[in-house]
Amino acid sequence: MYESESSSSANDFQQRVIDEFRANAGTVGGPFQGSSLLLLTTVGARTRRRHTTPLGYIDIDGKRLVVASAGGADRNPAWLHNLRAHPVVRVEVGSETYPATTAVLSGAVRDRFWDEVVRKHPGYGDYQQMTARVIPLVEIRPLPSRHGLDRVRGMGDFLQEVHQWLSAELDLVLAQVDAIIATADAITPMNLPPRTLHAQMLERCVVFCGALERHHMGEDFGAFPMVAEAFPALAPTLEQLRAEHVVVAEINASIRDLLEGYTPGASDPRELRVELHGLVVRLREHFAFEEHTILDALNAVADAPPSGNAPEPDSDSGE
Ligand SMILES: [Fe+2]
Ligand SMILES: [Fe+2]
Repeated sequence: MYESESSSSANDFQQRVIDEFRANAGTVGGPFQGSSLLLLTTVGARTRRRHTTPLGYIDIDGKRLVVASAGGADRNPAWLHNLRAHPVVRVEVGSETYPATTAVLSGAVRDRFWDEVVRKHPGYGDYQQMTARVIPLVEIRPLPSRHGLDRVRGMGDFLQEVHQWLSAELDLVLAQVDAIIATADAITPMNLPPRTLHAQMLERCVVFCGALERHHMGEDFGAFPMVAEAFPALAPTLEQLRAEHVVVAEINASIRDLLEGYTPGASDPRELRVELHGLVVRLREHFAFEEHTILDALNAVADAPPSGNAPEPDSDSGE
């Protein structure tokens, strides 16, 4: 009880610092008055959600460093665990936001920079005295930004557009099921349902499932190898995403089975709606996770394909 209250008030305090930082272009008063502060947004290793943490930073010899001191606690802070799992992060400094990769320094390099950190900020030395763990130092390396490039779209932007298109297609399939539900109530054995609705739904399913398969082929054999080559530290993230693609292929097959197995007049369209919605939620979780973890890295390594417009949802499919 005490622990959860304590952690909730720590979260409240942290949120107030984040709000003040963003409202004042990176300036925060009180205990942080005059200190160099940044906001680090990581992707939760377990939760897969984005988490933002205010941290002091130190610039030494052109390197921007943050210290995983956790106030001298015996456990590493959660953000360190997160960036070890997914090293691409978002950084806010002043009123600027930029994507970055992170690297936990080790060995003689860590020790050399540690001495310098403690020389500049002796408080970190005090934290080190409080714990047996060797306090990690993390370097933040900005990724090339697409800002200033005449808004040239990157491969990550393209990936996001395809996700949006796929997501819009899923909305249309759900809307078609809603239309089937609306007409189903009027169905009697003598009055068979309009088969066109079911046929349209199957047609859309074939388009969607094919597009998703092609998208993941493109990621597995095109986008991911490019990211892996440029950012070897992203290997565990890419491995996780590839494993997810196997699950997504199963979800894709389930959607196809579900829609093909639906028999107008005999199946319950409400059941279909519930099952379909569950699959859609899982697919969207995959899209979001992929965008959180590799979109910025993909933007850094490649432009969008020249003919790379995401397919437009059919304009005549809203009915
Ligand atoms: Fe994917
Ligand atoms: Fe994707």
